[in-house]
Amino acid sequence: MENNKLVVIGAGEFQLPLVLKAKELGYEVHCFAWEAGAVAKDEADFFYPISITDKEAILEKCKEINPVGVLTAGSDLAMPTVAYVCEALKLCCNSYEVACRCTNKYEMRRIMRDAGVCSPFFMLADANTDLCDDAIPYPVIVKPSDSSGSRGIHLANNREELASAIKQSCGFSPTSTAIIEEYIQGNEYSCECISYEGNHTFLAFTKKFTTGAPNYIENGHIQPDDIPEEFKDSIKSTIFKAITALGVTYGATHTEFKVDSEGNVGIIEIGARMGGGCIGSDLVYLSTGKDFLKMIIDVACSKAPDLSVTGTVHKQAKIDFIFTEKDIEKLEKLKSSNPESIVRISKFNMENLGKTTDCSNRVGYYITI
Ligand SMILES: Nc1ncnc2c1ncn2[C@@H]1O[C@H](COP(=O)(O)OP(=O)(O)OP(=O)(O)O)[C@@H](O)[C@H]1O
Ligand SMILES: [Mg+2]
Repeated sequence: MENNKLVVIGAGEFQLPLVLKAKELGYEVHCFAWEAGAVAKDEADFFYPISITDKEAILEKCKEINPVGVLTAGSDLAMPTVAYVCEALKLCCNSYEVACRCTNKYEMRRIMRDAGVCSPFFMLADANTDLCDDAIPYPVIVKPSDSSGSRGIHLANNREELASAIKQSCGFSPTSTAIIEEYIQGNEYSCECISYEGNHTFLAFTKKFTTGAPNYIENGHIQPDDIPEEFKDSIKSTIFKAITALGVTYGATHTEFKVDSEGNVGIIEIGARMGGGCIGSDLVYLSTGKDFLKMIIDVACSKAPDLSVTGTVHKQAKIDFIFTEKDIEKLEKLKSSNPESIVRISKFNMENLGKTTDCSNRVGYYITI
């Protein structure tokens, strides 16, 4: 390899598999993140304690490093920084504008509506919004327009609940704005894809489980999905149209959507990155044998992704998140009844037991096949 320097933005638990894969492929890995929670720090060759949102400082350092690629695995916060640095260094990535719009739920909705792809009712709201609007189709979901990790998500059934939901959601938004959306019906899934030069390749659907109302925190994911076969082509085509409308040309996408019993698809959001919660880093490889981590590294280094099957295709791949004592008991039972099925158990943050409010303060997780 001529230039083997690869920059990874973020060093948390969900970036660790990316750093390890890059090392395995022979890259010299330079990692940027805050020290706190930087579990990938010791695996990287170089670590810089700079906030992943400090795009100017990271760009300056990257000019010295002169990497062949810059990327992140599943971090919404890191995406604009990755695109900013890549744009300045003329590396392979979506534009900064595209990266920013893919982290803003309102912008995403606006662009999809203008492109005629999947447009449920939505509106921007803040502390001054007129809640007497008769057009609001209750029940609605209220969420911060520009946050992630299931923070500040609320279901509102009437005007009173809406007022309180907006107030709380705005508290999680850097711009103090929330988006009010029609409640999309159906089972929830995500679609994992890789794009290169504007062409999108489908890799897997993932069935998602959440805690449901009122806060919808993700508590598990499984591949393969249980979507009826006859719906799949039209779902893929809707998702590809939406990804194209957003202007995504390079790298992973993680599209969250719901499908009702008639096959109608409602997109919840699209991240121009791998699915977090080990969907991109582990589940895709375990259930398809296709090395998604290598694909995103390939693309970041301006190479077409290798779509071949290189690993064992397991019947299923699943992640369970731990919230409560009961979840730990379930894992303990599995350890004695079927230990071979367990691929990985994360570190547990016991101080979060029974106190989870969003994706950032779950206790831990385990992956099974
Ligand atoms: N319009 C909607 N209709 C129905 N359910 C929704 C809608 N919007 C969000 N949800 C539910 O809330 C969850 C979180 O919403 P969303 O993905 O937009 O927020 P997030 O902060 O990005 O969360 P995460 O990081 O967990 O994906 C979704 O996975 C879904 O279960
Ligand atoms: Mg989401």
